[in-house]
Amino acid sequence: MTRDHWDRRYAGSDRVWSAEPNVFVAGEAADLPAGRALDLATGEGRNAVWLAERGWRVTAVDFSEVGLAKARREADGRGVAVDWIHADLLEYEPPARAFELVLYVYLHLPAEERRAVLRRAADALAPGGTLLVVGHDLTNVQHGWGGPQDPAVLFTPDDVVAELPGLEIERAERVIRHVVTDDDEADAIDALVRARRPERSASGYGRPP
Ligand SMILES: C[S@@+](CC[C@H](N)C(=O)[O-])C[C@H]1O[C@@H](n2cnc3c(N)ncnc32)[C@H](O)[C@@H]1O
Repeated sequence: MTRDHWDRRYAGSDRVWSAEPNVFVAGEAADLPAGRALDLATGEGRNAVWLAERGWRVTAVDFSEVGLAKARREADGRGVAVDWIHADLLEYEPPARAFELVLYVYLHLPAEERRAVLRRAADALAPGGTLLVVGHDLTNVQHGWGGPQDPAVLFTPDDVVAELPGLEIERAERVIRHVVTDDDEADAIDALVRARRPERSASGYGRPP
């Protein structure tokens, strides 16, 4: 979907996503000590703001100005600072080895583009840092609720793992997200991968003493 599409979507509604963080982000980040976090495709900033409230120094990127304006307002209202970056992730180069946590959450791109952005996400991890990828699983189209219906932008945990050479895979599985709407309840099937950059990489360079 294009930048214009997302701008229109965010402009057309008070809040597209929840104010609370994604359930898997909250669960997986809960046991991590606060450090520097990078939220790719932050949208309205729900995960970035939640992390900032927990003491993380957060950089958050999205190509929708309208989404970022809402995110900024939310952060201001909750009294936290986030470094908001307006950029297209197909061009944005995050600093290498700079973050203890990188989020790639519900960003659905065609396979080639996903590969490129995932590689840069992995490169941005500091030694010991965690990459969390969450998205609608490929099987969600047929067996789950909501999300993009084009299989070309969906992925499985194995698809993601294949793009993360050099990282330790801590979790790679399909997970169920129970969704309650105004008039319905349903299960969505998500793909979740949690990966970690080893403290000392094959090149021999690790975290400085
Ligand atoms: C489904 S929303 C997810 C938002 C957020 N991660 C969350 O979980 O609340 C997908 C977001 O990806 C952003 N996006 C899609 N393609 C992008 C690109 N090429 N560069 C930057 N942002 C992009 C959209 O603007 C949108 O905010």
